[in-house]
Amino acid sequence: MKITKLLLFGAMIAGSAIVMQACGGSSEPKKETKTEVVKASTSSFAEGEKIYLAKCIVCHQANGEGIPGAFPPLKNSDYLFADKVRAVAQALNGSNREIVVNGVKYNAPMPQQVGTKEEAVAVVNYVLNTWGNNGGTITLEEVKDVVIDPRI
Ligand code: HEC
Repeated sequence: MKITKLLLFGAMIAGSAIVMQACGGSSEPKKETKTEVVKASTSSFAEGEKIYLAKCIVCHQANGEGIPGAFPPLKNSDYLFADKVRAVAQALNGSNREIVVNGVKYNAPMPQQVGTKEEAVAVVNYVLNTWGNNGGTITLEEVKDVVIDPRI
């Protein structure tokens, strides 16, 4: 009985190897790329939430309201809504200048948060659409000119 199972298993492996080879030769790589892109965009909101919970929440808080006088709000932030490309650049490079958010001045440094544009876009799309925000979305294409430069 055991030997029969083993043989059967072996035959299955051999069979699938043949099938894989047969498919490998004729498959179109373009199709695979397309599927990947679709997967990435549907999962990016969840990815953005993960990044927010891991990195941004300590300063901008779970409710997105920040800490008055120290960390600016992302909920209903006029500064965030005014320039989404700048927001992606801030997540990538940090921000260290005097800024005015909803009429309040902030001037503490925000360190660099993420290492890739994909992560920056995902987390910015998350904050643009959380806590009742209706800030629209931003694509990788729109931030193609943003330079990754943590010295900013
Ligand atoms: C260590 C605290 C800290 C962390 C962590 C942090 N920030 Fe900030 N953030 C700040 C400070 C301080 C400013 C104001 C910076 C300035 O004055 O240049 C700011 C400003 C901003 C702004 C522009 C101002 C506004 O309120 O709209 C955005 C957008 C932003 N942060 C997004 C993020 C995102 C997204 C993350 C996580 C990926 C993050 N921040 C993580 C402290 C932080």
